[in-house]
Amino acid sequence: MTEILLGIIGGCGHIGLIHAACLASLGYTVVAYDSNTAALKNLAKGIAPFYEPGLQELLHKTTASGVLTFTGRINELHRAGLVYVCVGTPSLADGRADTGPLESAVQELAGVVAGPAVAAIKSTVPVGTARKISRRLAASGLAKKLAVVSNPEFLAEGTGISDFLNPSRVIAGGEDAAAVKRAASIYAPPGVPVITTTWENAELIKYAANAFLAAKLSLINEIAALCEQAGADIRLVGRGTGLDPRIGASYLEAGAGFGGPCLEKDLRALISQFDRAALPAPLLEAVLAVNRRQCYRLVQKLSEKLGSLEGKKIGVLGLAFKPGTDDVRGSPSLPVIRRLLALGALVAAHDPAAGASPVKRDRLQAVLPGLTLASSPYEAAAGKDGLLILTAWPEYKKLDPEKLKHCLAVPLIVDGRNLFDPAQMRALGIDYRGVGR
Ligand code: UDX
Repeated sequence: MTEILLGIIGGCGHIGLIHAACLASLGYTVVAYDSNTAALKNLAKGIAPFYEPGLQELLHKTTASGVLTFTGRINELHRAGLVYVCVGTPSLADGRADTGPLESAVQELAGVVAGPAVAAIKSTVPVGTARKISRRLAASGLAKKLAVVSNPEFLAEGTGISDFLNPSRVIAGGEDAAAVKRAASIYAPPGVPVITTTWENAELIKYAANAFLAAKLSLINEIAALCEQAGADIRLVGRGTGLDPRIGASYLEAGAGFGGPCLEKDLRALISQFDRAALPAPLLEAVLAVNRRQCYRLVQKLSEKLGSLEGKKIGVLGLAFKPGTDDVRGSPSLPVIRRLLALGALVAAHDPAAGASPVKRDRLQAVLPGLTLASSPYEAAAGKDGLLILTAWPEYKKLDPEKLKHCLAVPLIVDGRNLFDPAQMRALGIDYRGVGR
């Protein structure tokens, strides 16, 4: 394996930690820096700051063998030849991505690194950011030590490790050809397309990819509403549509709408880049608007059956924004539960990962005051006037519908993830309402 020492900035975050563990597992020596001292302390005790399948084992292996180390001091990246910048770019109030912490981190890195080194920006940043950072480094005489490359990641939560190890493509953009080549060659399995390009192209590939994904979901969710009216089934309509290779079979499951920390944030940031360029973006705005409405259609389905939700008891299955993660950021469950509570409903929710420890339960109750947490799906259903399924956890698919029916006071199930067969549920006497079927 090559002698290059790799650094990570933002080493305790989702992207940074997965990069650190995966690169170390490939044989690189990795120093992961983060300013979050609490997360570093937990990592030293072997506790990952979030749940990601396979990560804990990988961290254990790579830290035990010494190839991966963590630090709270950026100057320990002094000898690094390539540093992945994985600093968050959260939404500002107007939707723009806040690149301030990332820009400061690169500037700070340039001050401590021996060089020549490469700062490979993994974070999703507005087009023009890498060029701006690079200009600043040049102005402060640091550009010779540190070249900037835009090197976006495409990891999804819950599948982060396999997405890292089996990338669909590797993108590296910049003006320093040697730096771009170095960033592109760190990990690109045989047969994987590698695009070396400009900063701007690389930055926009990431936004365009997430915008396409979000658009696909809003489109299928919009068509789902017509399926309901027409007595059609969105699952079959989606399947038949996705068999066209130009459309593609994946990412066509209608449901509660897309959640998570990335898609909406990146869509808003992209729209604000259009605004800044004085260009209209009606399609992107519609994708966002359709998604924001989607989760409330499920509350509407409860009201259609129960009338006023004041004093009604509702069970909710699923708080994480998708299965395989304990992350509730941007989860459709949050606005849905807030709306139910605001309408006067009494809500009990279950999630196998997001509510799995006392710390997580406390955090949930802080963001959703008034919510009761149930320790099992059947407990969430017990005595309720309706059950709402919001996350497609595989264990929910295996629930016994008959047992659920007996738990419920009113046999009403609104399934925001289409986990069950409507005909079978109705044959059991359950008032079952899916999305688009
Ligand atoms: C996404 C992109 O997939 C990833 O490439 C990018 O780097 C970050 O954003 P992530 O947000 O982790 O990843 O999850 P993803 O699997 O894309 O799901 C996003 C949301 O869409 C979830 O709420 C999920 O439930 C929903 N979804 C996804 C659907 O409703 N239907 C689908 O068919 C697929």
